[in-house]
Formats: sequence, C-alpha cells, structure tokens
Amino acid sequence: ASADPAKGEAIAKKCMTCHTFEKGGPNKVGPDLWGVIGRQAGSHEGFAYSDAIKAVGKPWTYEMINHFIANPKQYAPGTKMTFPGLPKAEDRANVIAFIRTKADS
Ligand code: HEM
Repeated sequence: ASADPAKGEAIAKKCMTCHTFEKGGPNKVGPDLWGVIGRQAGSHEGFAYSDAIKAVGKPWTYEMINHFIANPKQYAPGTKMTFPGLPKAEDRANVIAFIRTKADS
C-alpha cells in the first residue's frame, strides 16, 4: 500500500505532544516542524537543539527522517527527543507523507 497522509496525521498526534506542524507555529518541547523536509537539521529559529542534532549537519531528507524516527537515540546519540520511535515502517511512511503536506509548495 502506498503512504497515506491521512493515516499519518492520526499517528502524528503522538508527535504533536511535543511538536507543532504549522507555518510559523510555536516551538514546544520540540521545534515546529513546518517545512522540516529540506530544512537544515537543528536550524529552527528560537529552539535550543542538542549538539547531537546540530551534528547531523545537513538538510533533512525523507530517508534521514525515516531513520531518525525509527529510533531517535540510535540515529542521533545524545538527542533530547525522548520519543522511543515508530518501529513499523508503514507508520513511518504514513507520518512522513503527512509531514510532506506541511510545507510550502
Ligand atoms: C526534534 C520529528 C515526536 C521532541 C525532531 C526533529 C524531527 C522530529 C524531524 C528534528 C527537527 C529539526 O532539526 O529542526 C518527530 C516526529 C515525531 C516526533 C515525526 C513523531 C513520530 C516527538 C515527541 C517529542 C519530541 C513525542 C517529545 C517527547 C523533540 C525534541 C527535538 C525533536 C526535544 C529536538 C532534539 C534535539 O535537539 O536533540 N523531531 N518528533 N519529538 N523532537 Fe521530535
């Protein structure tokens, strides 16, 4: 089955405990994630990132986010994203399909 942003939105409720996905949305426990695909890791204005996220050192791609949210502490040891991860590949694909809708153009 192909990735489904509507299913992803339901799963993303978990992310919304800590993140907004709105343009100009506030940082909460985690940074606002509007437009995060293609955005330099650790670069959202006004958010105090860990060195682990800053060390990623390049813009987030689909693949990078897929790996990060599978197991955040394994992908970026020292991250302060205290979320255990989404073990199911299908859930990750759906969440990222949702994230893709939360961007300009
Ligand atoms: C960082 C995605 C759940 C807290 C990030 C980043 C992404 C992301 C892509 C990097 C942002 C950037 O570089 O600007 C997600 C997704 C989630 C999720 C897709 C759900 C599947 C959560 C939850 C929490 C959380 C539930 C809180 C318990 C954080 C924090 C950071 C972060 C604190 C900054 C990490 C650091 O500086 O080390 N998240 N997140 N996230 N997230 Fe999440």
